[in-house]
Amino acid sequence: MNNTITKSIEIIKSDTTKINDVDFDNLGFGKVFTDHMMVCDYKNGSWTEPKIMPFGPITLEPSAKIHYGQSIFEGMKGYKDADGNIMLFRPLDNCKRLNISAERLAMPAIPEDYFMEGLKTLLKIDSDWIPTADGSSLYIRPFMFATGEGFHASPADEYKLIIACSPSGSYFAGKVKVLIEEKYARAANGGVGYAKAGGNYAGQFYPTQLAIEKGYNQVIWTDDSTHEFIEEAGAMNVFMRINDTLITAPTSERILDGITRKSIIEIAKEDGINVEVRKIKVSEIVEAAKNGTLKEIFGAGTAAVISPVAGFGFRGEDFDLPELENPYAAKLKKRITDIQTNKAEDKYGWRVKL
Ligand SMILES: Cc1ncc(COP(=O)(O)O)c(C=O)c1O
Repeated sequence: MNNTITKSIEIIKSDTTKINDVDFDNLGFGKVFTDHMMVCDYKNGSWTEPKIMPFGPITLEPSAKIHYGQSIFEGMKGYKDADGNIMLFRPLDNCKRLNISAERLAMPAIPEDYFMEGLKTLLKIDSDWIPTADGSSLYIRPFMFATGEGFHASPADEYKLIIACSPSGSYFAGKVKVLIEEKYARAANGGVGYAKAGGNYAGQFYPTQLAIEKGYNQVIWTDDSTHEFIEEAGAMNVFMRINDTLITAPTSERILDGITRKSIIEIAKEDGINVEVRKIKVSEIVEAAKNGTLKEIFGAGTAAVISPVAGFGFRGEDFDLPELENPYAAKLKKRITDIQTNKAEDKYGWRVKL
């Protein structure tokens, strides 16, 4: 969808600011929200042009068809460099993925121009909220959900798209212990695994809680039919390093096409790392852990960028990963965040300056 904005974006400014109440040294992740949000409404077959409004509660009819789970979202980040330039990382990819999710959930696509221009205007208005400390950023959450009314199990005729922002520190503190899951699955063939549908995450919470009760932090998802192949790590794509080769599963209808994952693949290749995009058998990883060739496991996603794994559990046995002096995880995280924050050349054209 490529509608272009016909008038200047309407801005209703907040009378007050919450910014002075925020402890920017202890932000946590996704806990405080900026003064404004962007809103578009879908009615009578088309989207209203983006509007910037004070961040605040919205009303929803109890009969809104959100009951049926038409709810999708994105996660992206905004940065400010030393000169005060505001930058986004591959934002059009988020917009395109939102529309891929929308199509799968029978929801209307948002015109790219509405998304991009609305987002840029929002970031300029709330630019004082973009943190600059190392590892921090403005986490941006676009989400779209059904607001149209009716109890009939069919797609709604009205939707709302909101973009809200949260100044955030780093997502995970320290290395995580993961459990390779063999009973539950986050996605199935023919399902919605490749979409950022809210229900995918709701379905993950219970198995993740069970893993936490067993002493792990996260779940490694395997394929739903055989549980023989590794697919994702929590809400992240996953990379395994065996000897000096970096391996990640190919994206599929069950795996989210992560923007961090595809960026890491390109950067790692450029750095001369041997990268294999192929199916990864659980038995291969267990064997590599036993014979000492498994060097690293890490998750990759916007929130944490790269989240190193300390060890994993499988069928009641725990395997620790070695402490390396120069892990790929740290090296690749620095490479990607340097590009995101304008500390390094962006030969790929991934950075979008406002
Ligand atoms: C299930 C899942 N896989 C992978 C990712 C990573 O995607 P991205 O790198 O685009 O954030 C995410 C989102 O962060 C996710 O929710």
